[in-house]
Amino acid sequence: MSDYDLVIAGGTVVTPAEMFIADVGVKDGKVAAIGFNLRGLRSIDANGLLVMPGGIDSHCHIEQLQEGGGADEETFITGSTAALAGGTTSVVTFSTQFKGGGILQPLADYWRRAEQAMVDYTFHQIITDATDAVIFDEIPQVAAAGIRSLKVFLTYDPLHLDDRQFIRVLAAARRNKMLVTVHCENYEAINWRTAALLADGRTAPKYHAWARPAMIEREATHRAIALAEMVDQPIQVFHVSCPEVAEEIARAKARGLKVWGETCPQYFVLSADHMDRPGFEGAKFMCSPAPRDAAASEGLWTCIRDGVLDIVSSDHSGWSYETPAGKRVNGVDAPFRDIPNGVPGLGSRLAIMFDQAVSKGRMDACAFVRLIATNPAKLFGLYPRKGTIAPGTDADIVLWDPTKSVTLTNALAQHIIDYTPYEGMDVTGWPVMTIRRGQVVMQDGRVQAEPGSGQFLAREPYDLIKPTGNVPNGFDASAFLV
Ligand code: URP
Ligand code: ZN
Ligand code: ZN
Repeated sequence: MSDYDLVIAGGTVVTPAEMFIADVGVKDGKVAAIGFNLRGLRSIDANGLLVMPGGIDSHCHIEQLQEGGGADEETFITGSTAALAGGTTSVVTFSTQFKGGGILQPLADYWRRAEQAMVDYTFHQIITDATDAVIFDEIPQVAAAGIRSLKVFLTYDPLHLDDRQFIRVLAAARRNKMLVTVHCENYEAINWRTAALLADGRTAPKYHAWARPAMIEREATHRAIALAEMVDQPIQVFHVSCPEVAEEIARAKARGLKVWGETCPQYFVLSADHMDRPGFEGAKFMCSPAPRDAAASEGLWTCIRDGVLDIVSSDHSGWSYETPAGKRVNGVDAPFRDIPNGVPGLGSRLAIMFDQAVSKGRMDACAFVRLIATNPAKLFGLYPRKGTIAPGTDADIVLWDPTKSVTLTNALAQHIIDYTPYEGMDVTGWPVMTIRRGQVVMQDGRVQAEPGSGQFLAREPYDLIKPTGNVPNGFDASAFLV
């Protein structure tokens, strides 16, 4: 008699807390039991493999709507393929706002696109124009629809918010029980340095890093934290590039503030030197904040070990190198200011981080699981449905061969993007099977899932992002609709 639809037999189960050899029984898409000698309609031999929760990529740009029509090249179908190939089973992507417009119509349009997904998904709502209608009327509707995170940019034309607008978004998030995620770089400082660099004829991709040094990321991080503290609104700082910036988060955490930090694989394995490749090649490595140097990368590990940085996401960018709308949209002689930012990495996130973290001996597989699945699930209100392996959780599981060595290529990433910045990089540790809600959706690199089989993950209010209740003078200004 079979008690389970599927049994994953004899693997090393990795949870956020411990590792042990056991069978995992799956029924109706959920983990039903962890034990020994379980019997299922189908059994998968996981001997010698790690049995880990499917990755959760809480920061990736997929099919994001573009001003004037159209969307990123990476679609929900191709992005899902890359995710599942790489062992990721849930994503958080971005619904956007265009200045002068609202958020509900683009959200409806974007949601229709997302219904093609083959991974489970939810959204961050980007706010680029904090009008009264958005702040007082539309954000409450977005929260009611189960979207519990907002995203703001403190730099980039035309996305950035000034301090007043940012404070209004923080207050709206507090009223509506949402988390705010922040791109922290100083807008004016970048513009000033960029103007000077261009005036001096320094236009090549490598000057992207010169235009946005670490202290301007640190300044914006400090300011974001201070304003969030004033409003008493929890925030997550996106894509922290170096320890100097993480120090601001460490100080906030030490003072009991609800501030979390994310970093990305590119800040461990790329550096500013990559942008100094001949010709236009450096554009392949341009992202913001800019990758720094080897010492900064090594320092990020201490920040992770100390609990200062909580999450490693991909910040996957949905644009190619060769296509007319991608990196060369303004021509191959475009100054760095006019080259689109962002690097792809949805499919390679787990492999790079497993190699760097576990294979290279910096941390154990439990800590790896926390970084790429458990902490994103907790911070974005998906835990315990997602992010761990335990009875009652969704059976989102990646079977991982910790001994398999692979040289990364663009084809292996399985995204639609025409390049990977990680081409030729050797990694040890590789996903051999991905299971999403009990269904095998990737085996030995072959992704098989129906478009539309991903589920939207509606998020209720959750305790982790409750404000602390500490406001200056005991006066809660966010209660006033100003
Ligand atoms: O360079 C980056 N990170 N591009 C993607 C958009 C963002 O800033 O997150
Ligand atoms: Zn950003
Ligand atoms: Zn991003």
